[in-house]
Amino acid sequence: MIYYFSGCGNSKYVALELAKNVGDKLVFIPDAMKNGDFECNLKNNEMLGFVFPVYCWAPPQLVLDFISRLKINKTTVYTYFITTYGDNAGHTEKVFRAALKKHNIELSACLGIQMPETYVNMSGMDVDTKEVALQKINRAKDQLPELFETIADRRYLSDLEVGNNPFLKTYIVRPLFYKFLVTDKKWWTTNDCIGCGSCVSVCPLENISLNDNRRPEWKGNCTTCEACYHICPVHAIQFGKATKEKGQYQRFC
Ligand SMILES: Cc1cc2nc3c(=O)[nH]c(=O)nc-3n(C[C@H](O)[C@H](O)[C@H](O)COP(=O)(O)O)c2cc1C
Repeated sequence: MIYYFSGCGNSKYVALELAKNVGDKLVFIPDAMKNGDFECNLKNNEMLGFVFPVYCWAPPQLVLDFISRLKINKTTVYTYFITTYGDNAGHTEKVFRAALKKHNIELSACLGIQMPETYVNMSGMDVDTKEVALQKINRAKDQLPELFETIADRRYLSDLEVGNNPFLKTYIVRPLFYKFLVTDKKWWTTNDCIGCGSCVSVCPLENISLNDNRRPEWKGNCTTCEACYHICPVHAIQFGKATKEKGQYQRFC
């Protein structure tokens, strides 16, 4: 069983490739949450895997909330995650291990892979140049087969880029990030909006609808995954003043 979350397609790509490689069932976490499907019925000897992006040097809160609600039917034999990040993961592994404690599950493998940057809602943060994004994608494509082999062989491994000052980032900055920046109150559209509804269809949480003027409205359940921002064909979606003149990432999955 593989549970995954992805906003802009990087982790989705990894999850789809992983599922093809190991032949396990793939479940999109927002779908499971929407359907109230928290029963994780593992077959004998089945692995339990998670794929998600790093959000503020930890797994997205949505993934942690989902894990806390999961009902797992048996003792797991091999549990792992693969996470994608623009730079590094901070203490993602520690936070994830703590989330699994409730289920008395020990992680067997924690694997990370660098992918193009998607976060733009803070000053100084922008997408990678096209060249850097392409380099990251090509490198990831080269590295993924080895990651999948690690999992298929059920090896024990922790291989994540932790980066500098992980404690500060994960345990001090992250709570502030959720308090002030994980909100949809700051999303708005410029007059360039053409009312195409791409933002509505791409939102993984079904949190956007078009109003009578065919302008997007956010409904209060946003994880700031940035999917709506990046997909907009006319770059009309903005987050306060933070995204002025920032780039967009063309998702490849
Ligand atoms: C809300 C948010 C927070 C992020 N925080 C981090 C971070 O702490 N470290 C990092 O290296 N990348 C960070 N990123 C970048 C993503 O982890 C990276 O681009 C990831 O591959 C996106 O995956 P997705 O396309 O599946 O959504 C962040 C992205 C978002 C949207």
